[in-house]
Amino acid sequence: MKLIFSILLAAAFAYLVISQTDPSVNCVYQNHTLGYTCYLNTFNPDGIDNFTKIDGEHLKGKIHMDVRRVMSSNTSTTTIIPSILCNSFRFSDHLSIINSFIGYVGPNALRSCSVLTILNLSNNKITDLAPNAFENTRFLRNLILDLNYLMDLPDGIFTPLIHLQNLQINQNFLQVIQTSVFSSHPVLENVFLNYNMILALSPAIIENTNIQTLYMNSNICANGYFYNLSRENLTISLQKCLDNYSAMQIPTTPLPTPPPGSCGVGNIYDRVCELESIVEELSQRIDNLTPDPHK
Ligand SMILES: *[C@@H]1O[C@H](CO)[C@@H](O)[C@H](O)[C@H]1NC(C)=O
Ligand SMILES: *[C@@H]1O[C@H](CO)[C@@H](O)[C@H](O)[C@H]1NC(C)=O
Ligand SMILES: *[C@@H]1O[C@H](CO)[C@@H](O)[C@H](O)[C@H]1NC(C)=O
Ligand SMILES: *[C@@H]1O[C@H](CO)[C@@H](O)[C@H](O)[C@H]1NC(C)=O
Ligand SMILES: *[C@@H]1O[C@H](CO)[C@@H](O)[C@H](O)[C@H]1NC(C)=O
Ligand SMILES: *[C@@H]1O[C@H](CO)[C@@H](O)[C@H](O)[C@H]1NC(C)=O
Ligand SMILES: *[C@@H]1O[C@H](CO)[C@@H](O)[C@H](O)[C@H]1NC(C)=O
Repeated sequence: MKLIFSILLAAAFAYLVISQTDPSVNCVYQNHTLGYTCYLNTFNPDGIDNFTKIDGEHLKGKIHMDVRRVMSSNTSTTTIIPSILCNSFRFSDHLSIINSFIGYVGPNALRSCSVLTILNLSNNKITDLAPNAFENTRFLRNLILDLNYLMDLPDGIFTPLIHLQNLQINQNFLQVIQTSVFSSHPVLENVFLNYNMILALSPAIIENTNIQTLYMNSNICANGYFYNLSRENLTISLQKCLDNYSAMQIPTTPLPTPPPGSCGVGNIYDRVCELESIVEELSQRIDNLTPDPHK
């Protein structure tokens, strides 16, 4: 009861503060050895996507087209990737928006980021990826989706990523890895799927891909690190995943509901429990916001 009350209170508080603060996208620009960088600060808890400007002053002689890296600060709060980022920073090769409450990656979010090689969306709240979210990011080599809430991957979601070498989807809620997900990736080598809830794995992972290393620690059907996925040398435990795949009707079960008392004691429910505290976390973050520089 106390918890529910404090969540309600936090929500009311968050609403009050949100209604007084305008959504904004702001950069602090700096020269960095890896390239001219926008250190990003967004305030966009309602996920609007009609921004018309990016606040912040460029270094002398620099313009949007010079930006090579976009790195979010820890105080960024946004539930989407504002499309103004890719529309403005078209020559960026590294986009990193971490710890920022992103829940959805839409079809237009990354459309103009056509030379991106690293995308880091670690530690957000992503439950859905638009099926064509990565259609234009063909040069991505490194895609990091760790610590999100993905339960499945849209069919063919990674197909356009013909240069992808490393894919990290650790600590999500994936249950089944489908045939189509990793096929037609000529250079994909390392796939990290640790700490998911994988029950079944398509045998096509082994048969039709170039994946060399597959990390599967703390999943339901297998535990382990599989190096050089040669067909001969599958362990018994990975074999279970493959057998499961041929046996099963692909399930789409909802997120598990934590039984009473199962939060905060270190078990598979931990990250679901975390969802319940989002409102509080958000209001705290709003509380800590630095004053609006325009006031
Ligand atoms: C940024 O770095 C470049 C190359 O390292 C240098 O030419 C330029 O003067 C620097 N600009 C500023 C404003 O520091
Ligand atoms: C942007 O969208 C929000 C919410 O949909 C709306 O309230 C606001 O007026 C829009 N702003 C502009 C400049 O269109
Ligand atoms: C940013 O936030 C994450 C988790 O929310 C925390 O682990 C990390 O230490 C923070 N980094 C900085 C520089 O404050
Ligand atoms: C992605 O971001 C996480 C922080 O959440 C960081 O630990 C990790 O090193 C980053 N990975 C890359 C490849 O930049
Ligand atoms: C495959 O065989 C190699 C060499 O014997 C071994 O080092 C490796 O652990 C085996 N891989 C698996 C997944 O069992
Ligand atoms: C993987 O194993 C095969 C034989 O099963 C071998 O020909 C190949 O060179 C190995 N690749 C690597 C990267 O070790
Ligand atoms: C999949 O494998 C797990 C662990 O081996 C097992 O508990 C589960 O019942 C299997 N599911 C199906 C549908 O075969």
